[in-house]
Amino acid sequence: MKRTPLIAGNWKMYKTGTEAVETATTLARLCSDIKDTEVMIAPTFLSLPLVAASLEDTNIKIGAQNLYFEKQGAFTGEVSADMIKAAGAQYVIIGHSERRLYFRETDTSVCRKIKAAVEVGLKPILCIGESETQRNEEKTFSVLDKQVSDGLKGFGLDDLAHLVLAYEPVWAIGTGKTAGVDQVMQVHQHLRSLLEKLFSKDFSDQTRILYGGSVNPENAKNLMDIEDVDGALVGGASLDADKFINIIKYNK
Ligand code: PGA
Repeated sequence: MKRTPLIAGNWKMYKTGTEAVETATTLARLCSDIKDTEVMIAPTFLSLPLVAASLEDTNIKIGAQNLYFEKQGAFTGEVSADMIKAAGAQYVIIGHSERRLYFRETDTSVCRKIKAAVEVGLKPILCIGESETQRNEEKTFSVLDKQVSDGLKGFGLDDLAHLVLAYEPVWAIGTGKTAGVDQVMQVHQHLRSLLEKLFSKDFSDQTRILYGGSVNPENAKNLMDIEDVDGALVGGASLDADKFINIIKYNK
């Protein structure tokens, strides 16, 4: 089954509104001839509506980096799925390891966030990944299995039609250490079978599984050419349009 690759940029807590619009506009110009790859950027909540306005009529999609699962209410500092959708996003990153680590997100809150996203028609990008200690203790698969099965607990196939999974080994994020081709291949194959076991063969075939963790223009081709890798979630190297375009166009 052919899955359209997705190259997604996670801008984390970088760039003011003006800087974000500037990079987004440059990127849109560089991406104008991209056809068979979906490109998405996730700026901060503050920049999101500005970036969305500047990317109207371009082929770049917008995502948020997080959401809160309640619809509205007295939740100081939080932003709902509806608000994100109304601001122009189509995607939302959920359960990034930095959120799990610094903001104590759990598989239970991740699951509620996916539900909130799906309810308003936002496409969730569920991030999963093992820490270095967990890998050394040979717990990688059990950690990933739990993150996927608990994160997706209670959903039917229809709810998850637009789900994207992002495998991001925690030890490879922002460290310059990339997982080896064999490691990535093994994990992605494992995740593909897990989706089949939990849901169905069709679902597993159609769901995109991204790799993330120190992806850069130099290693993109090696990683993206792995059979079960359907794109990348890129942090640092997505902040610069000229670098990011070389990841997006890794095949050219
Ligand atoms: P990195 O971040 O590319 O800077 O390692 C990836 C991510 O956090 O999604």
